[in-house]
Amino acid sequence: MAGGRGIVFEEISKQFLVRGSPLAVLDKVSLDCPPGSFTALIGPSGCGKSTLLKIALGLETVDAGSVRIGGEPPDAVRQRGEIGIAFQDPALLPWRSVSANVALPLDVLGGSRPEQRARIPHLVSLVGLSGFETALPGELSGGMRQRVAIARSLVTAPDVLLMDEPFGALDLILRRQMNVELQRIWMEQSPTTILVTHGIDEAVYLADRVVVLGGRPGVVKGIVDIPFDRPRPTTIFRDPAFHRLTDEVGALLGGDEG
Ligand SMILES: Nc1ncnc2c1ncn2[C@@H]1O[C@H](COP(=O)(O)OP(=O)(O)OP(=O)(O)O)[C@@H](O)[C@H]1O
Ligand SMILES: [Mg+2]
Repeated sequence: MAGGRGIVFEEISKQFLVRGSPLAVLDKVSLDCPPGSFTALIGPSGCGKSTLLKIALGLETVDAGSVRIGGEPPDAVRQRGEIGIAFQDPALLPWRSVSANVALPLDVLGGSRPEQRARIPHLVSLVGLSGFETALPGELSGGMRQRVAIARSLVTAPDVLLMDEPFGALDLILRRQMNVELQRIWMEQSPTTILVTHGIDEAVYLADRVVVLGGRPGVVKGIVDIPFDRPRPTTIFRDPAFHRLTDEVGALLGGDEG
């Protein structure tokens, strides 16, 4: 599957009412994520990254502008189970086994999708959890739970994958392992992906381009294209060309991110 659908944000403006006063969160944010592309979204806390992702899911309204996934409103796409979602809190059901948690989106959608169910063992092994199929979430480490959530986000073989700091709670070593695993998984399925992250290294390692959001309300501060071929070896983290790109992203962030 070659990631058939792009995501197009057109001049998105959004404000919230906070205790009666309007708070402008996004100001005319436009972003074109071509089919099968990998976009990392980075920016200081509170600049509207999660809000933008919720808008892409159709879970948050906009005041102006529009978002389309393959030309359709996101609600319709989400309701058909064609968007994979992985957020910071893996939110596994504690009474369900690893395999049953991975299967959850299929159960929610209903109907029989035997070819998708048949992929579950493969997905579990893809995230390195073979042998843990029947384990309960309480028996897993935080990193393993996070990997269950990644497998779950892929179970419908989504065209679109939206991830909001999926590795935020992990230590650096585990996070890097997860980055390598995510690259491998992404190469296998090539969903159109948006990854929200606070990690500059993670963004540059994984993405085709890094979009820097900033300001209040949030605007696109700049876009850094990442030209490296895939698969990207982990030695790339020490490559001067890699550091030039992380410096470029850091400069756009204005030095307020680590
Ligand atoms: N439902 C809501 N009601 C009111 N204000 C909200 C709501 N959701 C978000 N906000 C406000 O909108 C702004 C942007 O929030 P958002 O969660 O999108 O930021 P973020 O870039 O994801 O930050 P972080 O990096 O900390 O996750 C914040 O000021 C937040 O307080
Ligand atoms: Mg957020």
